[in-house]
Amino acid sequence: MKITRRRLLKLGMMAGAGMVLPVGAMGAAVARLGAVNSVTSPKVKPFIVPLPVPPVLEPVRTSATTDYYEITQRIGRQEVLPGPKTEVWGYDGVFPGPTIEAKSGRRVVVRQWNELPVPVSTHLHGGKTPPESDGYPTDLILPQGYGPGAPSMDAGHGPTAEHSHMFKDYSYPNEQRAATLWYHDHRMDFTGPQVYKGLAGLYVIRDEVEGGLSLPKGEKEVPLVISDRTFGEDGSFYYPSIDPSLEGEPGVLVSQHNGMLGDTILVNGAPWPYMEVSNTRYRFRVLNASNARDYDLSLDPPPPGGKPFVQIGSDGGLLEAPVRHDRVRISPAERFDVVVDFSRYPVGTKVTLKNREEGKGPTSEVMRFTVARREKDESTAPERLAPEQDFPDPNAAEVTRRFKFSNSAVGMWSINGKPFDPERMDARPRLGSTEIWEFTSSSSHPVHVHLVHFRVLSRNGGKPGPYDAGWKDTVYVTSGETVRVAARFSGYKGRYVLHCHNLEHEDMMMMANFEVV
Ligand code: C2O
Ligand code: CU
Ligand code: CU
Repeated sequence: MKITRRRLLKLGMMAGAGMVLPVGAMGAAVARLGAVNSVTSPKVKPFIVPLPVPPVLEPVRTSATTDYYEITQRIGRQEVLPGPKTEVWGYDGVFPGPTIEAKSGRRVVVRQWNELPVPVSTHLHGGKTPPESDGYPTDLILPQGYGPGAPSMDAGHGPTAEHSHMFKDYSYPNEQRAATLWYHDHRMDFTGPQVYKGLAGLYVIRDEVEGGLSLPKGEKEVPLVISDRTFGEDGSFYYPSIDPSLEGEPGVLVSQHNGMLGDTILVNGAPWPYMEVSNTRYRFRVLNASNARDYDLSLDPPPPGGKPFVQIGSDGGLLEAPVRHDRVRISPAERFDVVVDFSRYPVGTKVTLKNREEGKGPTSEVMRFTVARREKDESTAPERLAPEQDFPDPNAAEVTRRFKFSNSAVGMWSINGKPFDPERMDARPRLGSTEIWEFTSSSSHPVHVHLVHFRVLSRNGGKPGPYDAGWKDTVYVTSGETVRVAARFSGYKGRYVLHCHNLEHEDMMMMANFEVV
């Protein structure tokens, strides 16, 4: 791959100039440097914008087995901050994109049209998807008339003159349990800026197990897509690309090498929004859709007796039994499905969702709930959620593989010392086999594996952490940690990736291939 070689060459030259940092020098403390931004967003008063909820997409057609959708990736203008409109690159031109509601066992086909000025690749995060629909980083949908000869797999021209843009049909079997998934851009070297501009949306799979529980639903089942952005004076998204056209040199300014941290917190695309609730239970599907920021969520004030967050689900769907938390730490791409019972607060209480990670300052707050009225609660809080899960048995594992996440040079992050190369296969698990994968790291990385959900076995040889329950597809590996997970490589043969979900690290090559054989 030309880009890879060219970049390596360039990095080699930088190394020659003495810019190499020793592996491990980028500790968690240094990661905070990314917050030092020359650009500061216009001031927004928190808790004045009502919480929006992304629209649910309607299928264009359904058959006995399949729901068909069409999405056009295009530029839109949206009031993100009160006042000036922000240019977003969105699915159907909106940010976050429309939510797709799927049923377990029923196929969804999404035709993605690309009307953006750049190539795109769309990945369903958490999806058990055949390789040709997984949104491999170089499996691009090119814009019309884009650089001839550039590679594109499975993409086709539109059937009519009015629709001569390029599209790709992504086919999702949904042979998996109910869970909160999300779809987002995955273009090689440019995922960070393209997601930041708005290319992310929710994809919810439902099934009968979940439907049989009387969890909060309807208006009381609320997605919370949390992200951070910095805005220019004119309300535009500020992203520190080396080449803001996203057509030439990839990468970000060295100051954001550790990951782009914005100074404004958005929930469902609105800055520090508020939501009025009744004194009943609500279910929140929390997704951290930020490029690089992790959150340590808590409620202020806490309810009497504490433990406001009753976690009912993880990345891979319902837990067997709820886990109660005072705080929820969520790293990029993770999902936590939590129930909060507002009857534990007197009517009239204002409850702030805080991010303790940041101590004080604007990014220490996320949104606010106002317990506005009394209402009879129709939901229950079951102590048994999912039936006993068939987790992969670590004793049956045939192979243990080690993946070391580190930075090898300024502007380059790597796995086992190697920057991503689409042509190098890094692991070949056998279809249907169980493997133990061990992730180690000198700084903090949310590690994500495509195709499979895994079970966290241990952290530093001890017990899994408080946020490791259930099936995971993304696990936060913090500074100096070793995290062991077990996965069963069932589903499909073919080529997939694992990578750090800090999108700047991902773009700067912290990614590896595996092929299920
Ligand atoms: Cu959410 Cu490979 O990504
Ligand atoms: Cu994924
Ligand atoms: Cu990382």
